[in-house]
Amino acid sequence: MELSLGILGGTFNPIHTGHIRLALYVQETLNLNRVLVIPDRLPPHKKAPDLLPGRDRLELCRKACNPYPQLEVSDMELKREGNSYTVDTLSALKSQFPNASLTLIVGSDMFLTIDSWKNSREIFRLAQICTGARKKEDIARLENKKKELQSLGAVCHILDLPVFEVSSTQIRRAVELGADKNYLSAWMGEDEAEYLLQTGFYQHGETEQDSECLRFLPLLKERLSPKRLFHSRCVADMAQSIAEEFFPGGVSPAKARLAGLLHDIYREAPNKDQLEMIQLEGLDWEPVLFEVPAVWHGFAAAAFLKLNCGIADEDLLNAIRFHTTARKDMSPLEKTIFLADAVSLDRLYPGAQELREACRESIHKGMTACLKYSVSHLAEKEVPIVKYTWEAFNQTILSGEK
Ligand SMILES: [Fe+2]
Ligand SMILES: [Fe+2]
Repeated sequence: MELSLGILGGTFNPIHTGHIRLALYVQETLNLNRVLVIPDRLPPHKKAPDLLPGRDRLELCRKACNPYPQLEVSDMELKREGNSYTVDTLSALKSQFPNASLTLIVGSDMFLTIDSWKNSREIFRLAQICTGARKKEDIARLENKKKELQSLGAVCHILDLPVFEVSSTQIRRAVELGADKNYLSAWMGEDEAEYLLQTGFYQHGETEQDSECLRFLPLLKERLSPKRLFHSRCVADMAQSIAEEFFPGGVSPAKARLAGLLHDIYREAPNKDQLEMIQLEGLDWEPVLFEVPAVWHGFAAAAFLKLNCGIADEDLLNAIRFHTTARKDMSPLEKTIFLADAVSLDRLYPGAQELREACRESIHKGMTACLKYSVSHLAEKEVPIVKYTWEAFNQTILSGEK
């Protein structure tokens, strides 16, 4: 029987569950005997700053593929001198397995440019090409490209890939922001997470750069556990990108970052301390707020930052104060922090991905989705819904915005 081999090359910087699922899915769908996972030495078509050394990428691939006998890791590209070109890898495999049929697995972005790769005709002669559509919108574009490539002699398969939202870029950033092993295990095996953290790679010291954030860092470290500090840094990151993308010129990215970093500064204080801090500021609260301790920390944080740390910027304080409850007539910065807290990189709860996608579309879609989630989640758990939240919800869905 003819041997059928899939080839999944890549930087694998680092390898994650998405890569493994892709390899297994293609192997099963196309009924391949094996899939070779081959880490690149020097990727010619992409620059990779922060590239984990080859031996570590290889070791991580081995650990990740270890549970699956149908996946095999090859160091053939890492051992080769100079640039690593796909055509050279395929030729080498063809000499090693003259009777094998080869299937090259590539991402959809690579599929669209594969005819510009070195000796692409030879690639098409040596292997079939397999790619996947991650989104329905991609299918038409890929089908058009398939026709074009077929006219050049390629045999192509376009598979409908099950979406698994994870990328090596996200993992690198998460490590940089202080992710621990448990967190990384959502995206990679525990063994790989442990190994990756031990290399110390992608960890560049403190991620805060501007002076205001740095000023608060010692205080944050004193008041927050490493896990909460990691969350706060993820919210700061997300807040900055929401400000840059949706409120250019309207919300200062530096202020959004600072608010994100500080929003949970009172999250780990005992409830009675939170209440005492709120009372120092003398807020006029609706009685039901006293029944929902989960939202106190935003109010306490704002009071603390105003009374003890000299922050006088009311917009920044409000963004922190209402980050859990939301409220009607929120300012752009308030919306930024509310959304960033709901969909930051570290949020892995069921439904977080849909909320993240809504936020990517528009602020209004993000607000609608996050408030809907919040209201139904609270109702489900029979937690009282404070006036601030239902007013925000009503105003958002009745606004007529799209
Ligand atoms: Fe919070
Ligand atoms: Fe938070």
